[in-house]
Amino acid sequence: MLDESYIQIAIELAKKGKGKVSPKPLVGALLVKNDKIISAAYRSSPEEDSAEIIALNCAKENPEGAVLYTNLEPCCFAGKEKDCAEILIGSKLKKIVIGSPNPHPQLGGTTIKKLRKAGVEIKTGVFEKECNELNKFYFKHVTQSFPYVTVVMASTLDGKIADKDGNSKWITSVESRSFVHELRTEYDAVLVGYNTVKMDNPHLTVRLVEGRNPKRIILDRELELSARDNLVKRNYDKNLAVLTSKSNKTKKKKVDKLAEAGVEIIYVNEEKNGRLDLSHALKKIGERNITSLLVEGGRRIFTEFLNNKLEDELIVFLGPKLLGNGIQLSDGMQIKNLRKAVKFGIKDLDKIGEDACLKLVRR
Ligand SMILES: NC(=O)c1ccc[n+]([C@@H]2O[C@H](COP(=O)([O-])OP(=O)(O)OC[C@H]3O[C@@H](n4cnc5c(N)ncnc54)[C@H](OP(=O)(O)O)[C@@H]3O)[C@@H](O)[C@H]2O)c1
Repeated sequence: MLDESYIQIAIELAKKGKGKVSPKPLVGALLVKNDKIISAAYRSSPEEDSAEIIALNCAKENPEGAVLYTNLEPCCFAGKEKDCAEILIGSKLKKIVIGSPNPHPQLGGTTIKKLRKAGVEIKTGVFEKECNELNKFYFKHVTQSFPYVTVVMASTLDGKIADKDGNSKWITSVESRSFVHELRTEYDAVLVGYNTVKMDNPHLTVRLVEGRNPKRIILDRELELSARDNLVKRNYDKNLAVLTSKSNKTKKKKVDKLAEAGVEIIYVNEEKNGRLDLSHALKKIGERNITSLLVEGGRRIFTEFLNNKLEDELIVFLGPKLLGNGIQLSDGMQIKNLRKAVKFGIKDLDKIGEDACLKLVRR
C-alpha cells in the first residue's frame, strides 16, 4: 500500500478521539512491517500517552525495522517518563511518515530534526492539508492562545434568523439541528448571548445525538442570568460559565447565587462604548484550555463576531422559507455598497434534511 493510504488510516483513527482529547491534538498512528499493520492506535483522552507510544507498546511484533505512520509530528517534550523522540529512536524504526508538522511554538520541527540527526528516515507532508484541517482547533490554540471559532446560524432564504416576535423555533429541519448537536460534541464550548437565553431558554446540550455536552458560555454584560433559566436549573455537570463586565463584581448577592449553582463567572473588559471586549473574552476562554468555540447567536453576537473578524469559519443553515419580516442575521453592519461587502468563499456545500448547509471562510 502507498504511504498516502496508511496516512489516511491514521487520519480515520485520529478522528475517533474527536471531542475527547482537548487541549491535546488528535493523533492516529500505525506501525507497518513487511506490508502488514502490526499496530494501530489513537489518542482517546488528554491524559493518555501519544498515539505513537501506544502503537509501539501494543505492537504484535517487534517494531524494529517497521514504518511508523502518523498524522502529526510527534512531540519531544519530556513526557511521563521519557520524551517521545527518544522512545522512537530507541525503537529502531526504519522510517517515519508524518502528515503535518506540529506548530507548537516550543516544538516547531524539533522532533523531526532530532529523529533525522539520529539517522531515522523521515517523510513529511503526506496529506498535509487534510491533517491540518483535522487539528485546526489545536493549531489555532497553540499558536495564538485563542480558541478556533465557528459561527453557526440558521437563516431563512431572506436572511431572517427569527420572526418579528423573536421566535426562531424552528427555521431549519430536525436533521440540521441534529447536525449542530453533533458539532457540539466536537467543540469544547458553545457560546450564546443573554438575549437568546431570555428568548429561547435553551439547554445547549446534545439531546439529539450521542456524545458529551460542551461547556456552555453566556455573554451577559449586565449579569442577568438567573436560577430561572434552564441553563442554570439544569447545570448538572457544573459546566456553565458567564462572561460579564468587571463592573458586576459589586453585585455580590447575584455573584454568590450563580456561584452556588456552579456557574463560573468570567470577568471581561468593557470597550469605550460599554460593550464587552470580545477579543478579551476569547483570550479568557483560551486561557481555560478551551481550544474550540461554537458561537450560536443571536443577532448581535453574530454581527459583532463578524464585524470584528473573530470567526475562523461560518456555517449557515438555509431553511427553504421566506419570512418577509423578522430579525435580520447581520443587523447594524455599516456597509456602503456591494464592492465593500464582506466576502466569503464556500468551503463545503451540503443538503441536510430540507436545508442547505454552507461552510464558509472569509476571502
Ligand atoms: N436562527 C439562529 O441561528 C438563531 C440563533 C440564536 C438566536 N437566535 C435569535 O436571536 C434573537 C436574539 O438576538 P439578540 O441580538 O437580541 O441578542 P443576542 O445576540 O442573543 O445577545 C446579545 C447579548 O449579548 C450581550 N453582549 C455583551 N457584549 C456584547 C458584544 N460585544 N456584542 C454583542 N453582544 C454583547 C448583550 O448585552 P448588552 O445588550 O447589555 O450589551 C446582550 O445581552 C432571538 O430572537 C433568538 O431566537 C437565532
